[in-house]
Order: sequence, then C-alpha cells, then structure tokens
Amino acid sequence: MSSLANEVGAINLSQGFPDFDAPEALRVAIGKCAMDGHNQYAPMAGLLRLREAVAGHVKRYRDIDVNPETEVTIVPGATEGIFCCVQAVVNPGDEVILFDPAYDSYEPAVDLAGGKAIRIPLAAPDFQIDWDRFERALGPKTRLVMINSPHNPCGSVLARSDLERLSVLADRYDFLVCSDEVYEHLVYDGLEHCSVLQIPGLRERSFAHFSFGKTYSVTGWKTGYCVAPQTLTAELRKVHQYVAFVAVTPVQHALADFMESHPDYPATLAVEYQRRRDLFLDALAESRFTWTPSKGSFFQLLDYSAITDAGDAELCLRWTKEAGVASIPLSPFYREAPESKVLRFCFAKRDGILLEAARRLCAI
Ligand SMILES: Cc1ncc(COP(=O)(O)O)c(C=O)c1O
Repeated sequence: MSSLANEVGAINLSQGFPDFDAPEALRVAIGKCAMDGHNQYAPMAGLLRLREAVAGHVKRYRDIDVNPETEVTIVPGATEGIFCCVQAVVNPGDEVILFDPAYDSYEPAVDLAGGKAIRIPLAAPDFQIDWDRFERALGPKTRLVMINSPHNPCGSVLARSDLERLSVLADRYDFLVCSDEVYEHLVYDGLEHCSVLQIPGLRERSFAHFSFGKTYSVTGWKTGYCVAPQTLTAELRKVHQYVAFVAVTPVQHALADFMESHPDYPATLAVEYQRRRDLFLDALAESRFTWTPSKGSFFQLLDYSAITDAGDAELCLRWTKEAGVASIPLSPFYREAPESKVLRFCFAKRDGILLEAARRLCAI
C-alpha cells in the first residue's frame, strides 16, 4: 500500500511508521557514534551498556528487576526476536495459539518451525479475548501462546486481569508465552500497559518483545529487544546467533546514549499520540465512517459499512487512487476474515496530514 500511495501521490496512512522525525538528540547521537568508530560487530547478545539501559527502563516503567547479562537480548527488530523465539521453542507437531486478527509475521514463523497455528477470533468491536473459547483450544500439545498488547491492527489493550487469567491457564496447561509489546508506551484514555513481566506466573514462562523503532520513532533502524528468563533467553540466543547474529552497532550505542540521557522520554508518548488520535477522529466527525477510539498502538480502525458493501482489499486500492488516502485492509490479518467492513489507519502522522486525510475521507 505504501508503494501504491507513493505512486499515485496519496496520503499514506497505511504502513505503521511516523512521518515525523526521531528526537534530535538521538539523530545527533547516531552520527557521532559512527564518527567515533563504533562500526564493527557488537557482542551477539547486544552491547552490555544498551542491555543495562533496557534493564533500567524496565525497572522505571514496570518496576521489575531484570538481569541485563542473562535476560536481555538486543535484536535487529522485534520481528527477528519473535521469529527466534518461535524457532527456539516450537517443535514439529506442537500447537501454537494465535489470535485472529494477528500481526502478519507470527504464523509464518510457526509454520517454519513445523508447528500448527490455531487461531482464536477476537470479536469486534472491542477485540477482547473470549476466554472460554481460548481454554477449549488448550491441550497437551499447546506449546506456545502468542499475544499482542497494545494490538496491531485492532488498537485493543489487555488488562492486568486478562494476563492474570492467562497466567492461571499457563500454569494449568504448561505452555510458554510470546508477548509482543512493541507499542507498550502508546496506551490512551487513562489505561495502563501491563506487561507479562509484571505477572509473576507469566514472568517465568514468557518472552516479552519490544521495539526501539516504535518507542523512539526510528522504525527504519530495525532494532528491538527481548526480555525473558535466563533459561529461555539462552534458547532464543541459540537461534539468534545463526539468524542475524547481532544488531547494528552504532545504532545500539546511539540508543544507549539517548536512553541514559532521556529516561523520561517514553512517558511523553501517550499524551502526544492520544492528541493525534483525537485530532484525526474529531476531524472525521462529519464523515460516514464509524469507530471505537483506539485504546493503544498508533492505529485506528474505521468501519465503512454505512458507505459501501465493497470488500476491504478492493476498497483500499480504490480509495488510495480515487480519494487520495491509503489505508490497510483488515482481512489479511485473519486466516478467515469475517464479514466486517473495516480499514486500518495509522495516525503517527503530522497534524496537517491527518487533517487533510480526514477532509478527504469526509468527502467519501
Ligand atoms: C505488533 C507488531 N509487532 C512487531 C512489529 C515489528 O517491530 P520491528 O520493526 O521492531 O521489527 C510491528 C511493526 O509494525 C508490529 O506492529
């Protein structure tokens, strides 16, 4: 959708990346780190000073102690961390539970490991977990459960009570958890992100994945980290060693510099992104779309069922070309897409862009 948007000159609210720049101090830092000669391989698990900064971040925001040497691994993007985690623990024939819709990289990773992905639907409009249905899917073959909060594409958020429920079931059925928390700081309307790291029963059996790209507006730097107990981290690193081996060195130094000097920066994000969400939605008040405001992530779903019966994939292409706004259809995030008429819009964009996109959408 991004390349089509560029081709036809549409406003691109499709792919999930900010159109504003990263903090200046971070951009200055990467140039300086390259000029200072930090240009050769980092250690396989990541620079220790960045892992220490991550441990400080987890302590500050989740009040949890993690060991930077044995429990934190720096990876070239959360996607690689998630891939390595799945390859590390899923064996042929194992069952892996995913929720539908799901971020697109999960199921291919399970397939490659020889696992069987079982998808449980999240029901619109709140996209919450149906716990009875979930429990019915569990059994002796369940090896891994993959969760994502805040959720891409739905913008839903798991509450502490959800994670506590998951913890009870994880103990009963003895499965591991892969928790994708790349939007941990983007949670709105007074809600708080709860990490698996904060739930004692999950802390010991989970891989928690994060992305510097999302938190520091540097998606193109493709750098993230995984926090997991020592035994699980050791397994993840065995795969990471032969998939990517390391993340980029000057990027790691620059992130460490910035995290050390600006530890409060992530706490500023929710207010700013909520403002962007509200700006976009207020400007859509006169449109024929309907919505539930996103609770987290930088995605907003808009329901177009009052406008047309067309399928979402076809409509995305048509509105990119004819209305000049690119979005993403929801159906590719499902194995079996329901009848819903919903598109995903990224609101990590400058005010003028959001207002102009909304103006065009109101004209539909
Ligand atoms: C839910 C989710 N997980 C993971 C990622 C990928 O993160 P990274 O760019 O650090 O690989 C994304 C990016 O869009 C995402 O939305």
